[in-house]
Amino acid sequence: MEKELAKIKAKECLGRLSAEQKIGQMNQLWGFDMGTGGPSIEEQIRKGLVGSCLYVMDPAERNRLQHIAVEEAPGGVPIFFALDIVNGHKTLFPAPICQASSWDPSLFEKTQAVAAGEARADGYHWTFFPNADIGRDARWGRVQEGCGEDPYLSSAMVAAQVRGFQGQEIGEEGHILACAKHFAGYGAATGGRDYDEVYLSEAQLRNDYLPPFKAAIDAGVGTIMSAYMDLNNVPATANEFLMKEVLRREWDFDGMVVTDAGTIGNLITQGFAKDTEDAALRAAKCDVNMDMGSMSYMTALKGLLEKGQLSMEDLDRMVLPILTLKYQMGLFDNPYTKQAPADDEAEAAAKIELARTAAERSVVLLKNEDHTLPLSPSLNKIAVIGPCADNAAALISSLSPDSAGPVTVLKGIENRLPDAQISYVCGPKIKRDVPWVATEFMPWLAGKEDVEETPEMQDALIADAVKAADAADAVIMVLGELLEMSNEHSSRACIDLPGRQNDLLKAVMEKTAESKKPVVLVLLGGRPLSVGYAAEHVPAILEAWQTGQEAGNAIARILFGDVNPGGKLPTSFPRSAGQAPFYYAKNLSHAPEYLKKPGQWDSRYWDQPNTPLFPFGHGLSYSTFEYGQPKVSASEISPGESVTVTVDITNTSDIDGDEVAQLYIHQRYGSDSRPRRLLKGFKRLSIPARAKVTVSFELTADDLSYWSSAKHAYVQDETDFDVWTGGSSEAENHTEFSVRGTASYHLP
Ligand code: BGC
Repeated sequence: MEKELAKIKAKECLGRLSAEQKIGQMNQLWGFDMGTGGPSIEEQIRKGLVGSCLYVMDPAERNRLQHIAVEEAPGGVPIFFALDIVNGHKTLFPAPICQASSWDPSLFEKTQAVAAGEARADGYHWTFFPNADIGRDARWGRVQEGCGEDPYLSSAMVAAQVRGFQGQEIGEEGHILACAKHFAGYGAATGGRDYDEVYLSEAQLRNDYLPPFKAAIDAGVGTIMSAYMDLNNVPATANEFLMKEVLRREWDFDGMVVTDAGTIGNLITQGFAKDTEDAALRAAKCDVNMDMGSMSYMTALKGLLEKGQLSMEDLDRMVLPILTLKYQMGLFDNPYTKQAPADDEAEAAAKIELARTAAERSVVLLKNEDHTLPLSPSLNKIAVIGPCADNAAALISSLSPDSAGPVTVLKGIENRLPDAQISYVCGPKIKRDVPWVATEFMPWLAGKEDVEETPEMQDALIADAVKAADAADAVIMVLGELLEMSNEHSSRACIDLPGRQNDLLKAVMEKTAESKKPVVLVLLGGRPLSVGYAAEHVPAILEAWQTGQEAGNAIARILFGDVNPGGKLPTSFPRSAGQAPFYYAKNLSHAPEYLKKPGQWDSRYWDQPNTPLFPFGHGLSYSTFEYGQPKVSASEISPGESVTVTVDITNTSDIDGDEVAQLYIHQRYGSDSRPRRLLKGFKRLSIPARAKVTVSFELTADDLSYWSSAKHAYVQDETDFDVWTGGSSEAENHTEFSVRGTASYHLP
């Protein structure tokens, strides 16, 4: 239903609800027993005290509860059924960090649209996605849910996901509501420890962490989720600066804010609110519309109304967006879900193909010495080694129990080379040291009980792998992390390959060093890992992240040259956890020219270079590309004007390939110091062998403006800009232009 009409209907509906039922609309309950006691969901729904449920996993149960809400409860307001859809619902696509590596927002839009269609057919109306968090600390477990370290790339990817989930407008058939989360700053948890406090200056927030949320809102996102943690000592859920000042006043957001799980209750735990009443009041004063699972609104809002601390107008203002969205989504006309017919053969095949294409476009070729890749498909004996090689848990980031098992890398290689002799050795198993909280509530996530391996047993497993490598013509190592190692509640102090994987790799490399047989490393998992040994010793490395259900087939097609890789890193690869947080867009700093000798002032650590292992934007191809000199449309512009940058790119090889052309700028001086480089344009291009293409980027006044700490305003300075174009954040081809005229300022 169209928004204005939905609002009118919602107002009428409000008129039919008692105060208690209005508060009920603001109450979201878990669909499974959290062990907190109290009345059952069913009882609460029957009284009209539930606006939404998350994680009711059984479709029949969702319909049953909906019937109670609509037909038995006073008010008869249908329930929003919600869940997290990270990388697909039934069809499992690559994880967000992986799809961000495609640098192809239109691809992400397509995959999330399929996810939306599947979820809607299954009776869900709303997903808590996309994740709009900037991840600059590889220790943080949720790097895999976001689109990397850069606000420009993330904004494009987040907006694409919103369009994919919601369609052209909220309520479009076969689509669901999206939710940009976690507002805001969650990715900057101190020490990379999930849920820990975050300290970000206003400049960091506005320049780096808020843009993906603003992009989601500009793309029409219906809902926003607050974050768990304290932002500058004020919990995000009751943070007036975030919720009132930025979200509602500056951005004019009139959709719904849902809290992250239990965060209103957490206002007490975090040492911010005195008691439940205080917590509920402080969240309500921030116009937080829906309480996920803490029951604080149900417990306290009525009393606050009676005491006059909240008015009925306050309550109506908070409930209105919830009801409006329910009308917009067509819930009142169509609350139930009929069992959807299974996909026909063509639909099913198209989805699998999309999952494979998404994977193929997202894999990043990090290193390829002496054209080790692609491997010859006529190889006879191949050793596939590593605990991630035949492990579905290395390929997904989704919590959905419905999805089909992914094609593992081993299976994909077997599919691709049915006649080859493939020997598989797992090597020592890997596991988390402490249990994962999610498995407690979502039993389908729990791994199989494994026999404890002693160090001696592990040595023997490594020896088996070495034997297999020795006997093979080529070795494919598949190493990395499993689902429960990079996820929520899955931060790490050390970002090395978990378990004995580095020992396994070293043993294989030492054995094969003389033979010159090709050895390839496929990395899987959700975060950039510190793989210094591999980067130095293994001739070819593919970063395939959590590649989704078609992982094995896609990776095999890249390994054996059917597909030419074209992905680029959406995040820098640090050398070690000690460098975290690590990102390319750093400011220039004290480094006097006269002392700039290699190894002296170019590194701030004496035990490790400052540079990344692999830089942001990096990714190779089986083709080679050459960039011409970038040209600007004007060497001088006035504030407010745009400038166009044009560059030629030639595929200098005999293979058709994809290149992601990137544009970076640096402001030389101005109101504030600015980062040494900032991504301000990118385009993924398919360039035929030996062909030359010309690509242009427009730099607008917005691209050249920023939030200035000094001026406490958005500013476009009178200044000079460096411009680089190339295939990574270390692009060398350079030009420049100037902005001349009175600087322009605007307040948010
Ligand atoms: C996560 C959210 C998620 C919610 C519901 C929380 O723990 O932080 O991202 O949407 O659970 O599953």
